[in-house]
Amino acid sequence: MKYLERVILETLRMYSPVPLIARVVNEDVKLGSAGPRSCVGRKYAMLKLKVLLASVLRRFRTISDKDEKDFKLQADIILKREDGFHIRVEERVV
Ligand code: HEM
Repeated sequence: MKYLERVILETLRMYSPVPLIARVVNEDVKLGSAGPRSCVGRKYAMLKLKVLLASVLRRFRTISDKDEKDFKLQADIILKREDGFHIRVEERVV
């Protein structure tokens, strides 16, 4: 679970799900640690991602038909793959 958490954090770093925030600052602001709009669901999201990924990846192997270098990203409200997520799922043989 520790390793999985590192994989999730690295994925969030490389492919930030919220790539931009449209907000205008009207006066100088001194930001505290994570700032005043820090995500309240952060810990819950991490727990849920770990449970979900561990449950799925224990039984299935996921295969992408595209190399990472060919990903075309689209920065919308959240970051997306322009052409969607084309993955194949195969049951693991134990
Ligand atoms: C990986 C999952 C998540 C990511 C990447 C994420 C990302 C973010 C980001 C970037 C912000 C700041 C937005 C801004 O500055 O305007 C934010 C705020 C917030 N998030 Fe999340 N979030 C996630 C999961 C969740 C979940 C699961 C919940 C609820 C259960 C949640 C509830 C909120 C709320 C209520 C705020 C607004 C806080 C405020 O403005 O006072 N988030 N989130």
